[in-house]
Amino acid sequence: MDLKTPYYVIDQKELDDNFRKLKNALDNHWSNSIIGYSYKTNALPWVIRHFDRLGCFAEVVSEEEYNLAKLVGVEKGKIIYNGPIKTKDTFLEAIQDGCIVNIDSQREIDWLDVLPVENRAVGIRINFDIEKMCPGQSQCPEEGGRFGFCYENGEFAKAVTALRDKNVRIAGLHLHTSSKSRGLDIYRAIAGVACKVQEEFHFDLDYIDVGGGFFGGLPTKPQFEEYMALMAEILSARFDKEQTKLIIEPGMAVIGAPIRYVTTVIDVKDTQFSRFVVTDGSRTSIDPLMSKSSYFHSYEHQGDGPILPKQIICGYTCMEHDRLFEAINEPALQPGDRIVYHKVGAYTMCLSPLFIKYFPDVYVERGGEFIKVRESWQPEEYMMKSILEE
Ligand SMILES: Cc1ncc(COP(=O)(O)O)c(C=O)c1O
Repeated sequence: MDLKTPYYVIDQKELDDNFRKLKNALDNHWSNSIIGYSYKTNALPWVIRHFDRLGCFAEVVSEEEYNLAKLVGVEKGKIIYNGPIKTKDTFLEAIQDGCIVNIDSQREIDWLDVLPVENRAVGIRINFDIEKMCPGQSQCPEEGGRFGFCYENGEFAKAVTALRDKNVRIAGLHLHTSSKSRGLDIYRAIAGVACKVQEEFHFDLDYIDVGGGFFGGLPTKPQFEEYMALMAEILSARFDKEQTKLIIEPGMAVIGAPIRYVTTVIDVKDTQFSRFVVTDGSRTSIDPLMSKSSYFHSYEHQGDGPILPKQIICGYTCMEHDRLFEAINEPALQPGDRIVYHKVGAYTMCLSPLFIKYFPDVYVERGGEFIKVRESWQPEEYMMKSILEE
């Protein structure tokens, strides 16, 4: 396929097959459920509309994401509004429109005063000591998580009292916890906390929202069936499957694996120390936080070359550390060869900077055809909203 590189490709069959596995796992273990697609993980308009068509709610965490959901046609009420940076207007509108709104901070409790009492129903995000329950697996082992109301120091209990004093119904519990491991232990802990808190506070919950953070589409990692079976077993001890919905908010698990990034070798350069293979892709497009040490990749060679002990594969930016990986004992790469990076759909396109080059083309591959769903950005798009006449 001779499309102009660099570009991303969304493999629609892989996406849909993987999503179906998730849906089946949920249906098997807790069919009274909602899947909220996490916009932040990849909010490409085609992607968010596709998940809407698959029946997902939109999981959003800012006024911009909230309005984006409305702009792509998400039905009223099919939004899950989370996070600390909601605006008052969209917060109140979302509640009145019947969205699922999970409060994260004190200011949101204050905002509830202006709502008529009959509309006062929210979910509450709990902050708990996940490191203690799953040593070595949390993201911030020393300082702890920063979202929601802390259970251990009594802030959660205070928030519950404040809500009850205002006649606010606590309709749901939000327990999203990002982890380093994405392991089953994390979801055992989350389900356990939900049960413990239910017992202590005697909630009458419409939903338990366990958040995202799962693996998906990777055969060597925990499978959807395992996550759902485990949580359902624990939760069913204290919650009635008919009465309380299970909400999940996957991002990475549903959009990570089915996207690849295609690049071309544009130059090969030898220095005193190394062979550098320069490509028209960039590390900023598949690892914008420059945190990964390896990438799933494959080659499309045009011809045969000698095996070389080491080639350093580089990106197009002028940053020295825009080096993607070292090809060790691999055939020599030549201009025109392609390098494809796999499983790069999560926290990539949405975090890439507009640095030196702008956003690349995106295609959807469906039935052997490539359909363009985003045109690469040019200076015209970059200039949008700039004000040059002062
Ligand atoms: C509240 C919430 N839900 C869902 C997600 C999605 O997580 P992931 O992409 O790891 O599945 C996140 C990610 O940070 C989140 O903060």
